[in-house]
Amino acid sequence: MAIRLVVCKDYDEMSRRGADEIAKIVQSKPECVLGLATGSTPCRLYEYLAEDYKAGKLDFSKARSVNLDEYKGLGPDDDQSYRFFMNRELFSKININIENTFVVNGLEPDEKIACGELEAQLDEYGPADIQILGIGENGHIGFNEPAEQFTLRAHEVALTESTIAANARFFEDESKVPTKAYSMGIGNIMSAGKIVLLASGEKKAEAIEKTMNGIVDPKVPSSILQLHPDVVIIVDLAAASKISTLK
Ligand code: GLP
Repeated sequence: MAIRLVVCKDYDEMSRRGADEIAKIVQSKPECVLGLATGSTPCRLYEYLAEDYKAGKLDFSKARSVNLDEYKGLGPDDDQSYRFFMNRELFSKININIENTFVVNGLEPDEKIACGELEAQLDEYGPADIQILGIGENGHIGFNEPAEQFTLRAHEVALTESTIAANARFFEDESKVPTKAYSMGIGNIMSAGKIVLLASGEKKAEAIEKTMNGIVDPKVPSSILQLHPDVVIIVDLAAASKISTLK
């Protein structure tokens, strides 16, 4: 099976294992392309990368990065934008050249322009050497929400009610959560050389079971990962609690 599962005792161990996957790539290929993700799940992983950098173990000076997605309507100065998040959580703490980091422009109102820029960046850098993913409770990856079919390329997304509700915890109230986003498509994500999906907590357990053992179905976008040749799913015990093949 293409998916390798790593079950960790807790969030901290999951984060360290995820950071190790990135560290291996950065050490073996300094000019690597990192596909990065936001959300609360990768926060500790980014802290570990910053600690490794400070300790002299990692050098990001030649690395480049592309993020999965961005809220439409939020700019880099908005503390809820994913650009702001990346700068705060990682880029300001390591020696990556900020000009070599790309997050799609949430302030661009025209879908064609915004997504065209994301596609052009991916073309210029080439496929990510490693793509980090979190997962939504409904199996979304990036902002590829459950749908009738997989959307392959970068696109504008109308966020589902469950995603808006889940992400409301970061905003003053639910009405402030953007209803749209720009996201890499499934084909963009699948073109990465290696994919590392992280999940922590009971709320993600069902999505993880469906990702690993369900049918490949656009209604569970993460299930497509079964078709990728090099996927590692790193979970804590709670997120692993519904994996049928572990019982
Ligand atoms: C958002 C992001 C996803 C992320 C998901 C889960 O919707 N677009 O990339 O995986 O949230 O977030 P969290 O890690 O906070 O549970």
